Amino acid sequence: MEFRHLGRSGLMVSEISYGNWLTHGSQVEEDAAKQCVQAALDEGITTFDTADVYAGTKAEEVLGRALKSVRRESLEIFTKVYWPTGPGKNDRGLSRKHITESIHGSLRRLQTDYVDLYQAHRYDAETPLEETLKTFDDLVRQGKVLYVGVSEWTADQIAQALKIADEMGFDRIVSNQPQYSMLWRVIESEIVPLCEQEGVGQIVWSPIGQGVLTGKYLPGQQPPEGSRATDKSGSAMISRFMNDDVLTRVQELKPIAADLGLSMAQLAIAWVLQNPNVSSAIIGASRPEQVRDNVKAAGVKLEADVLKRIDDVLGSVVERDPAKTQSPPKRP
Ligand SMILES: NC(=O)c1ccc[n+]([C@@H]2O[C@H](COP(=O)([O-])OP(=O)(O)OC[C@H]3O[C@@H](n4cnc5c(N)ncnc54)[C@H](OP(=O)(O)O)[C@@H]3O)[C@@H](O)[C@H]2O)c1
Repeated sequence: MEFRHLGRSGLMVSEISYGNWLTHGSQVEEDAAKQCVQAALDEGITTFDTADVYAGTKAEEVLGRALKSVRRESLEIFTKVYWPTGPGKNDRGLSRKHITESIHGSLRRLQTDYVDLYQAHRYDAETPLEETLKTFDDLVRQGKVLYVGVSEWTADQIAQALKIADEMGFDRIVSNQPQYSMLWRVIESEIVPLCEQEGVGQIVWSPIGQGVLTGKYLPGQQPPEGSRATDKSGSAMISRFMNDDVLTRVQELKPIAADLGLSMAQLAIAWVLQNPNVSSAIIGASRPEQVRDNVKAAGVKLEADVLKRIDDVLGSVVERDPAKTQSPPKRP
């Protein structure tokens, strides 16, 4: 495994991290979840990403049990707050009340005294940014959270948060967690330039497009049984890539991966890691073999001619519109 700094902070993270969205507490049984976490640990992954909302809070519990016997200092545990975790009007968003209640729930479920990174899962248009940032700063001072970050915030929202933090003397955000892959490059024009300048690192999600970039979904055919596209929660999430134009072009990436002696998943993960503003690529897995395959992308260098071949194959199916970075206009 290779390690990188999280943005300009002193925290080192594994350049491939493991996340449990849609899997733990949902698509996969607890045994398989534990085997995936064990495979991640065996392969040198030290950074684990979850969220209060995943599987209605069950994902944090599963991860907490799976990591329970591991030396805490050898791990970086990330979680998030924003999406609803209960029926009440205050069980969501980034108010002082919800953030404070949510971190206590996360710490209890993860069986830890602190998380290494606490992330605002989206921007909350209904809470003053000062209130959110002051609450995060308080949690840092209380030692419940070591670093703070955001997820899917626009460049303007990140810039505003940094400005307020500097003016008020609050802890600065060190990371953003956006979707980023060969197919989804919407952060490149605005977010990455700002974040490079400000020392904010990207921890990128769905680097293999939720499985699409493995090439296992064939155009015009039913998805393989047991894959995310057949899962009751996962199928809606992956649907944006499940069209024949995307799937046909992905098949054409296979010779590129083969020429490099890489699996398709390794090629896709290596691709996001070529961006120096990326601190870590978060992989998901429904089986331990996937983790063992995918981690081999760590440290792989892709030359300019390979990157060009990929661009030529994918052409117009690549999404680049910065306006696709969005949070709900009102709390969900
Ligand atoms: N901040 C946010 O808003 C946000 C949103 C989404 C995700 N995330 C984070 O990012 C993490 C990763 O997201 P993701 O799960 O979508 O990432 P991903 O790595 O792009 O996709 C993972 C899925 O692809 C399939 N797969 C993985 N390796 C494979 C292989 N070698 N061969 C064939 N299939 C393979 C598996 O699904 P099947 O086996 O079921 O097909 C696996 O669960 C999440 O766990 C979460 O921590 C954050």
